[in-house]
Amino acid sequence: MSCKLFRMAESFPYNQAMITDKEILVLYYSQHGATRQMARLIARGVEQVDGARARLRTVAKVSAVCESTEPGIPDSGAPYVELRDLEECMGLALGSPTRFGNMAAAMKYFWDGTGGLWMNHTLVGKPAALFTSTGTMHGGQESTLLSMMLPLLHHGMVIVGLPYSQPELTSTQSGGTPYGASHVAGIANDRAISDAEKKLCIALGAHLARIALKLAA
Ligand SMILES: Cc1cc2nc3c(=O)[nH]c(=O)nc-3n(C[C@H](O)[C@H](O)[C@H](O)COP(=O)(O)O)c2cc1C
Repeated sequence: MSCKLFRMAESFPYNQAMITDKEILVLYYSQHGATRQMARLIARGVEQVDGARARLRTVAKVSAVCESTEPGIPDSGAPYVELRDLEECMGLALGSPTRFGNMAAAMKYFWDGTGGLWMNHTLVGKPAALFTSTGTMHGGQESTLLSMMLPLLHHGMVIVGLPYSQPELTSTQSGGTPYGASHVAGIANDRAISDAEKKLCIALGAHLARIALKLAA
């Protein structure tokens, strides 16, 4: 029995999808809302760039209990991603809270279902940026960002980091790394996104959109 109803079959007809070449897909998973807030800030950054639009999507939870399935539309947040979202985007911002220094299983599960896109080289040459939220300051921000790069590199995507020309990268007292945007949510998930973290999310979205537009030109 399948644990998930809402993933596209591997036989999705990739070559029939409509190409929407001005959109950045902002794809995230979030349990407590911090990564979702970051996704919205990154989307704001994307939309600050003339000619770029953001498409927000999420992935469903995974569960060891396979008898129940999630509703087709999430109770809150963005719609569930479909493989055609990846095909249609000109770039990708990918975010997950850390799980023991790695991306969350729900996000990994989604990428494990993208073999058809890999075979068709659909994502080759598209730029991608990463973001994460962690409970603690040194609880695996960089490793989580790096873990999300791995499937994207296999797909042939071009990784976009945060450049040190962004002043908050050196002044931040919490999240923000050259590998991507990050947020320290606190062990009780009660820390608001700081001004520096917020600016870096927006900057990452704008930086990614500018590079995507150049690559797509
Ligand atoms: C199973 C599990 C493992 C976690 N592992 C870590 C960890 O290794 N380091 C850390 O700082 N936070 C860890 N956390 C905390 C989450 O990453 C943190 O709550 C996150 O910021 C929440 O993001 P969200 O609000 O988008 O769900 C873990 C949480 C869970 C449930």
